[in-house]
Amino acid sequence: MQLTAPLDMHLHLRDGDMLQNIAKASAQTFSGAIIMPNLVPPVSTKEEVIAYKERILAAIGDEKFTPYMTLFFKPSYDKAFLESLRDEITAIKLYPAGITTNSEGGVSGFDVEELRPTLEAMSELNIPLCVHGETNGFVMDREAEFVSIYERLANAFPKLKIIMEHITTKESVKALDKHENLYATITIHHLLLTLDDVAGGMLQPHLFCKPIAKRPEDREALLKVALEAHPKVMFGSDSAPHPKHAKENCGCAAGVFTAPIALQLLTELFEKHHALNNIQAFVSGNAQKIYGITPRTKTIILEKKPFTVPAIYNDVVPMYANETIAYSIKDIQHG
Ligand code: NCD
Ligand code: ZN
Repeated sequence: MQLTAPLDMHLHLRDGDMLQNIAKASAQTFSGAIIMPNLVPPVSTKEEVIAYKERILAAIGDEKFTPYMTLFFKPSYDKAFLESLRDEITAIKLYPAGITTNSEGGVSGFDVEELRPTLEAMSELNIPLCVHGETNGFVMDREAEFVSIYERLANAFPKLKIIMEHITTKESVKALDKHENLYATITIHHLLLTLDDVAGGMLQPHLFCKPIAKRPEDREALLKVALEAHPKVMFGSDSAPHPKHAKENCGCAAGVFTAPIALQLLTELFEKHHALNNIQAFVSGNAQKIYGITPRTKTIILEKKPFTVPAIYNDVVPMYANETIAYSIKDIQHG
């Protein structure tokens, strides 16, 4: 079993010691990843994008990996500013204000006219808009409620590529086919979990993330489009590490750390559903087409050999810590 040039289209690499700790987990096994900008403060100037990219490249050392950089959306960005950093970024990430980790500087209210200058400039410059699509409503309804905002944006800016990040509901899946310019990323944890796994028994802090895992029928809808490698969906891990003390705490930080096991879990899942023919499109081909990128060559050889997930990566507890998964990485070839 092999995967060619896997891409992670939604990844948190953090900064400082955390970046040093976790960057290689992604850089070894992926050809590239879309890097989220929710640092403190968020990445929102050309200088910050360039400096963050340099810190990432320093942290990954000799690994062959492309960080596709993003900027934290602000409605004040004008066309001249965006033109000046067009070559430095692959997308811009929009967060509703305060909806998730480090998103306080995001957008409040989704007034199309207020957003128009920036979104029109992005559309003209062909910069995709990645969106964390949740309202501040009841937690299980937040994403479904946001679909009408996605639709409003999709209609108002028909040439703007809008990526619904880490979708978790059947409503978002439905929206994909209704609007030509809507796309989506899907994580591995949302293909595997429902709310029951997070909170149905003893509370599992390491499975807690935003958006929270939903109902079985939501997971079924996600599985269907992932396993058929629907051309508008792509893999984005949303691997979002937090130190153990921030997760195993009263007031648990949101985010699941999956980077070191993402490809092994995807392979196991696609095999279980007899869909291995489609995994390559889901982990690379679709993203290449949607974003118009050509990743560096890298081949990941996986074998069906049990792998016990480490208990901890320095101070980050991964998903399925201490559990045994079916696939292991056997070899990684470059060139
Ligand atoms: C992410 C993080 O920790 O940065 N957390 C999460 O639960 N997914 C932010 C995000 O993508 O929402
Ligand atoms: Zn994220």
